Amino acid sequence: MTYFKDMMDRMSFFPMDKLVKRDDLSKDYFINANWALYCENYLEGFHIPFVHHGLSEVLDFSDYETELYYPYSSLQLGVAKSKEGTFDLPVDSPDYGRNIAAYYFWVFPNMMFNFYPWGLSINIVYPLGVDKTKVSFISYVYDETLRSTGAGADLDRVEQEDEAIVENVQKGIRSRFYHNGRYSVTKERGTHHFHSLLAKFINS
Ligand SMILES: [Fe+2]
Repeated sequence: MTYFKDMMDRMSFFPMDKLVKRDDLSKDYFINANWALYCENYLEGFHIPFVHHGLSEVLDFSDYETELYYPYSSLQLGVAKSKEGTFDLPVDSPDYGRNIAAYYFWVFPNMMFNFYPWGLSINIVYPLGVDKTKVSFISYVYDETLRSTGAGADLDRVEQEDEAIVENVQKGIRSRFYHNGRYSVTKERGTHHFHSLLAKFINS
């Protein structure tokens, strides 16, 4: 299917049939910002070293990569500094030999599928108002013993760090000092892709 095929192909090695939904680990977050700002923040890599100090200890920011899938999805690769907390990849994976700690898939318009060696965290972004958003985190665990390792070890903390920056951007956008900047070729490919899709659907 147009929306999920690229993700399912890339994750074909992952034991989807062994994932167990965990309501005790799932949670709704409420953010005082527009839903599109939340998505933009998810899609750009600039903020990671500045906002996520814990995550930055695990991920190698110089290896940050975004792959665009047309028309409706993209992938950000979370490459780790060491092998610890990374996927055990099969030889036929395009990522074989690399230290992949997370696959961050975004699917237009409001879905995020974050794969970690321990399982999958799905985020669904719901607009509640111009500056109100609900994000539902739904957790599916494959290997409980891996849950405290790697890039997916403390999702609640990472989420709170993201909320703080997104709410700040929301305040900044309301101010008259806000100007639209240029896109970064390396760190904002996903954001540009998102904006192109938004423009296409708003204009159609
Ligand atoms: Fe973030």
